[in-house]
Amino acid sequence: MEPKTTMPGHAPVRQVGTVTVTDDTTGRTFKLPLLEGATGPRTIDIRKLYAESGYFTFDPGFTSTASCESAITYIDGDEGVLLHRGYPIQDLAEHCDYLEVCYLLLNGELPDAQQKADFERTITYHTMVHEQLIRFYSGFRRDAHPMAVMCGVAGALSAFYHDSTDFTNPVHRMITSHRLIAKIPTMAAMAYKYSVGQPFMYPRNDLGYAENFLYMTFATPFEPYKVNPTLAKALDKILILHADHEQNASTSTVRLAGSSHANPFACIASGITALWGPAHGGANEAVLKMLEEIGSADRIPEFVKRAKDKNDPFRLMGFGHRVYKNYDPRAKIMRELCYEVLGELGIKDEPLLDIAMKLEKIALEDEYFVEKKLYPNVDFYSGIILKAMGFPTSMFTVLFALARTVGWISQWKEMIEDPQQKIGRPRQLYTGATPRSVVPLAQR
Ligand code: SDX
Repeated sequence: MEPKTTMPGHAPVRQVGTVTVTDDTTGRTFKLPLLEGATGPRTIDIRKLYAESGYFTFDPGFTSTASCESAITYIDGDEGVLLHRGYPIQDLAEHCDYLEVCYLLLNGELPDAQQKADFERTITYHTMVHEQLIRFYSGFRRDAHPMAVMCGVAGALSAFYHDSTDFTNPVHRMITSHRLIAKIPTMAAMAYKYSVGQPFMYPRNDLGYAENFLYMTFATPFEPYKVNPTLAKALDKILILHADHEQNASTSTVRLAGSSHANPFACIASGITALWGPAHGGANEAVLKMLEEIGSADRIPEFVKRAKDKNDPFRLMGFGHRVYKNYDPRAKIMRELCYEVLGELGIKDEPLLDIAMKLEKIALEDEYFVEKKLYPNVDFYSGIILKAMGFPTSMFTVLFALARTVGWISQWKEMIEDPQQKIGRPRQLYTGATPRSVVPLAQR
């Protein structure tokens, strides 16, 4: 079969052969195309399986399912490799800033100096939110979880931008992407300010992306506030580490919502909702609570024992991953950042870091974790850094959502631009009641 390139910038998809499936109950066989992309596992094309066989495939949790063709992020879970548009995450974290990575995820290539300057200016001039959006915050109680606020306010954005609703128009798609990348830090900082009863701080056009977010979060109107440049740089790196991660639960949610051509702001709100779960982005908040519950290194064995006990729902938060069966490359960088930030802040001995390091060592030497290939993931160390920077635990997942918005909107854009795009509509293995008649109420 001739290689097919369905989207610009994508490697062609080649059929390298077929896979034959035999139904032993009927002797029928089905030949399914075996496809190969740029790299990674080959995929069995089952798009015609139901039409030809009357059978569905069954894969709850999508452990063996490729839901789409994508050129944005590649993960090799066995080797602990993470690439964005072919660039290793370590290189991007070392040599780029977050807005360069945003440009890369959106456009497929790193910007040159002029493109970077233009992109920074575009994002800077979209950081303000509509003054009416501010009133959405006052509908929440002050003690509302900031993620609940973000779900609501992100969805509300769809009510404000009627000038770019034609998503078949690439210009509309790009301005929407820019608006979301630019406004999400402003909205996140506002969620924090609202929770502590302080006035909102407007974004400043003279500050960098991460610097502006720290300013809007921690500055107050009555005195000058200088953002610590080391913390701004560290936060910028943390945003890079969280920017995108293939077809994870929240990205898949955004793609599924977007497949019905729903408003992209509403799609991002659906991504924020999915990310909130402690099995996903909510794990960074859960890790810190777990470390605080462990409280001291001598209690680590008790919790490791609980994590291994099938009858105990407790899991080691920040450990394990559906794809990484090796060390999450982001966790390694995060651990180095821990030392950098704690050092900059003069925090000599952070007990939570001490517990985390000892917990990691014990777990990585325990046969349960070794056999199940459970390693620290991106969420294991991030909370320690964010706590040291002054963020309350409830804001940790908000920062994850802030950073991941560019990944969500890049994946949404790729899906909308895919000529093969269609509404996502999975089927099921039905185990409910078979047809039966209603018994009239008088006889029930
Ligand atoms: C993120 O997908 C992504 O890319 C996500 C993410 C991104 O950037 O978008 O990387 C961000 O969500 C990171 C993961 C954050 N979540 C946590 O840290 C929560 C703790 N970890 C888990 O609950 C779990 O590891 C998951 C949810 C991350 C992955 O779950 P899977 O792939 O469905 O694996 P599983 O639940 O089937 O576990 C396999 C086995 C089970 O034991 P058995 O039934 O085989 O005997 O490993 C065990 C599990 O009990 N196990 C754990 C464990 N994680 C898995 N046991 C103890 N502690 C853990 N953390």
